[in-house]
Amino acid sequence: MVDVFNWQIKRDMKYPYAAAAPEKQFAAVFDINKCIGCQTCSITCKTTWTTGRGQEYMFWNNVESKPYGGYPLYWDFKLLEKLGGGQWKDGAYTGKTIFEKAAEENKTVEGFLPALEDWSYPNMGEDEIAGGSVKQGMHIETLPHPLWFFYLPRICNHCSNPACLANCPRQAVYKRKEDGIVLIDQSRCQGYRQCVSACPYKKPMYNATTFRSEKCVACYPKVEQGLQTQCMEHCIGKIRIQGWLSAPDKAREDNPIDYLVHIKKLALPLYPQFGTQPNVYYIPPIHVPPPYMRQMFGPGVDAAVKTYRENVPTDPILKGLLVLFGSAAEIMTRFEVKNDIAYGYNQKGDTVAQTPIVEPHVIREHYDKKLDVYRLDVT
Ligand code: SF4
Ligand code: SF4
Ligand code: F3S
Repeated sequence: MVDVFNWQIKRDMKYPYAAAAPEKQFAAVFDINKCIGCQTCSITCKTTWTTGRGQEYMFWNNVESKPYGGYPLYWDFKLLEKLGGGQWKDGAYTGKTIFEKAAEENKTVEGFLPALEDWSYPNMGEDEIAGGSVKQGMHIETLPHPLWFFYLPRICNHCSNPACLANCPRQAVYKRKEDGIVLIDQSRCQGYRQCVSACPYKKPMYNATTFRSEKCVACYPKVEQGLQTQCMEHCIGKIRIQGWLSAPDKAREDNPIDYLVHIKKLALPLYPQFGTQPNVYYIPPIHVPPPYMRQMFGPGVDAAVKTYRENVPTDPILKGLLVLFGSAAEIMTRFEVKNDIAYGYNQKGDTVAQTPIVEPHVIREHYDKKLDVYRLDVT
């Protein structure tokens, strides 16, 4: 084990390999406030990648309803319990990561292998509310009401310290130098499933037909052509944006992902306390009780919610960037906002998205003199 610096938990931590940052790091931001739970992302991924034998149960992209849902069941609660609910102090995590906890027992990664049945209920807890009685919540005068749930879309995080990679005895898991995407080499994999038990997000999945494990491949054939992944491109709620994340000290104001993650600190990693430094970031839901959010996204939640509530409506740059979500098929490496229009540019500098911050409204007269007709639906 060597010391690597993990900026998400603001301290050095133990990991089996020395830090080796890729040339570019695949990353994405999901705005949970906009997710409608339509599962289009799950299905676009499924029809692209997991229609084969042995893949029937697999959802490389899944969307679960929190707090009760989970695919596989209770993937997060089980691990959080093992870690014993770690604490944060001054923005730094003072508890143990999954690597540090495992070292106490001479293991590489603390984890568990889900039972087969635990993968069978991807919709468990869907739309189930928490936090009070329906009667309370139904009264408009009690708003903001005490009832809550939210959708949590999840893919592989293409982590900077991947637990799947750390734990594979065959060294079949690798992180690509050119884009930080984490893949399983199918020719090396022998189906030991140590990657499945190690991944805290439970994103590698075992194929009992090929006797090998598989996982989200970040749609690398598309990424290599400068295109966003299937799940990003086809998201109906336009909650996703994909790009490249710089190290915190190299963050660029005009890079959409850097701006949201490092500069505005509006998008946060999921369970940073696990220690893998995941690269999918979430804009937290603003209506959920803060203690639940803090254990899920760390201590930056309160500031992120405040920014979303107070700055997004008034800050044209932030507002502009949020309307660029889901507005292009290509990866936007740069953005700018001019005269209330948000522009996204690809790697070559071409404009690939151009979106007005406020959509123009056109209201037609209900009586059209020229045609002498009445329109009932006039908006
Ligand atoms: Fe590996 Fe899991 Fe991280 Fe994906 S989310 S890179 S499978 S540890
Ligand atoms: Fe599936 Fe591609 Fe999205 Fe991964 S990036 S979940 S492979 S659609
Ligand atoms: Fe390694 Fe996982 Fe295959 S542990 S051998 S990649 S099943």
